[in-house]
Amino acid sequence: MESVTVEAQIDALLAQMTLAEKVGQMCQVPISHPELDERIRRGEVGSVIYSGTPLPGTGPQPPASAARLNYLQRIAVEESRMRIPVLFGRDVLHGYKTVAPIPLGMATSWSPDVVRSVCRVAAREASADGIRWTFAPMLDIARDPRWGRIAEGFGEDPFLCSALADAAIRGFQGDELSDPDSVLACPKHYAAYGAAEGGRDYNAVEVTTATLRNVYLPPFHAAIRAGAGSIMSAFPEIGGVPITANRALLTDILKEEWGFDGFVISDWAAVDELRYHGVAADRAGAALLAAQAGVDMDMASDVYADELAGLVEAGRLPEAVIDAAVRRVLRAKFRLGLFDRPYTDEQRSAIHLHPDHLRIVRDAAARSLVLLKNDGILPLAKAGLTIGIFGPLANARRTLFGAWTLDGDEASVVSIADRIRAAVDRSVTIRTAELVDDALTRARHCDVVIAVVGEGVSRSGEDHCVTTLDLPPGQQAFLDALHALQVPTVVVVLAGRPLALEPVHRSAAAILMAWHPGTEGAQAIVDVLFGDTVPSGKLPVTFPRTVGQVPLYYNHKPTGRPLPPGDRRHSRYTDHLDSPLYPFGYGLSYTHFEYSNLHIIREDGPAVTVRAEVTNTGPRAGEEIAQLYVRDLVASISRPVKELKGFARLALAPGETQTVSFRLTRDDLSFYNAEGKRVFEPGEFAVWIGPDSSRGLAGTFVIDPDGA
Ligand code: GLC
Repeated sequence: MESVTVEAQIDALLAQMTLAEKVGQMCQVPISHPELDERIRRGEVGSVIYSGTPLPGTGPQPPASAARLNYLQRIAVEESRMRIPVLFGRDVLHGYKTVAPIPLGMATSWSPDVVRSVCRVAAREASADGIRWTFAPMLDIARDPRWGRIAEGFGEDPFLCSALADAAIRGFQGDELSDPDSVLACPKHYAAYGAAEGGRDYNAVEVTTATLRNVYLPPFHAAIRAGAGSIMSAFPEIGGVPITANRALLTDILKEEWGFDGFVISDWAAVDELRYHGVAADRAGAALLAAQAGVDMDMASDVYADELAGLVEAGRLPEAVIDAAVRRVLRAKFRLGLFDRPYTDEQRSAIHLHPDHLRIVRDAAARSLVLLKNDGILPLAKAGLTIGIFGPLANARRTLFGAWTLDGDEASVVSIADRIRAAVDRSVTIRTAELVDDALTRARHCDVVIAVVGEGVSRSGEDHCVTTLDLPPGQQAFLDALHALQVPTVVVVLAGRPLALEPVHRSAAAILMAWHPGTEGAQAIVDVLFGDTVPSGKLPVTFPRTVGQVPLYYNHKPTGRPLPPGDRRHSRYTDHLDSPLYPFGYGLSYTHFEYSNLHIIREDGPAVTVRAEVTNTGPRAGEEIAQLYVRDLVASISRPVKELKGFARLALAPGETQTVSFRLTRDDLSFYNAEGKRVFEPGEFAVWIGPDSSRGLAGTFVIDPDGA
């Protein structure tokens, strides 16, 4: 019934709208535009992006407010001719006022529940200020940590990213998109943006059809299947065709093959950038290419506003193309309930930083932490110690938010140093220092040093790519000097990307990777350092030993000279180990888990159940994320050495054993071939169940051509 009345209402609106009003719905205008009120009054604004600059993720932004948005909405609904409500959008990636860990940190939880809860909190808080559309989740698979935007996504694996994509869409859009506290999701950046050459933002992408289909598209397909109501096209070109003008991606696959009935928005000014890509001679040509490709809304370039009507009037663009785009935009507005309830209750902002929200992001932060090394020094005692707290980020607050935090208030964040002070017993002596030489002098009198190092926000996010993965200048020298003093050091790393921590691994007693952990991140870190929380995070991305290994990822191809070395040469470097420092899926606990008794049970037809037992053999209760990997040993194209096909979190008491069981179906074992066709090819498969992508109980099974 919904689709009939909505489509009928859209038909009625389209029949009354002028061409200019239709084009207006295809235009998103920044909140900072000097003539915004007038343009809304003339029906020329379909959406307002609540950002003042092209790089909102890197600096302070004008705060949104329900009062301001209601004022603008009244102009649209009560003064414009068609009275079509405006859709207000903002980048709300990992929290609004209550800030969660960066998405790469959230992915470390391997928990769809964590992601869904965080996105639900973000939707509640953003919609309270009138924001009903978020440009999130970011679903770009990233295999190159030099790329600053690796921070914004869920890591290197399509299976994990797809599971978290589904959760994010459901979190943002809620059970009913028309609920006032739901926001329209906008998976981005469709697609393969993370494959930019050299890890340089906006750079060209060269991926084969099979790689595009098997690696970069699955998370977006999962998001569409979860009901995402919009999607954002990416900046780069793929194989010479800019995505903003790429009909094969935006229409043939997205709208026709996948049946996406939402709308496509370009990235910021990307329609105009078709001229710089060298595929459009002028703005009219850019507008024509983007509209024909399937971009339904132009973000901030005004190319559609200036050129589309002229293209239709000149007979170069059928008005049917405009109608189809406007239909998609209006459909989203109806589904959001904007026609029925265009205004925001201005009292709702009282839910910002609600205690329930803080609890959810604290849990997310706890699960985002990865224990990378521990010689036994952790967990620390809370009494009777002299503890040094040093390092450039020990007192950091805003840095804890990470990239793409437009609305978090620094006043709501407590530093790691202050959280440590509050956690320990009065018998503990805390030593701190501003200067490195003072820190070294005081470190000598400490039983243990907690060194908080890593990246500030300026190295993370959009347009923040780097050529080195080393700690920022001076930090490694400080850690080496501490090591020379033979003071046991626990290193806490804050960063928006994997860093080359091999030197740290050589000298530190323990390493805790904390990413940028959000409003409650410092408390979560302290809870782990002193044992109130047992760490359970697992890496969603490979940590290389050195930047020279990049791109380095677990689901790589075997090559004709595979690792580990056989009797022939293999793909390697002469000057460094080939292996990662920490592999995808890796993470330690304060207890130990053992895997045993792998069983492979064949079912009728091409389905297989793979089981194993996991035992907590250590002294404490803990949670283990057991992982299932598969390899298609012989196929029509070379297939990865391993692919994640399942994971499960097990909470185990000391000595407890649980069975973990995964079912593999024909679809789980299918892939896209060189022609982009999805195929299932019988044959022999290898399978592993284990703690990460480098280890596990191994087995094989065969599926015959008749599926037996
Ligand atoms: C930026 C980003 C995109 C963001 C948009 C709006 O350039 O690429 O992720 O959503 O502009 O801020």
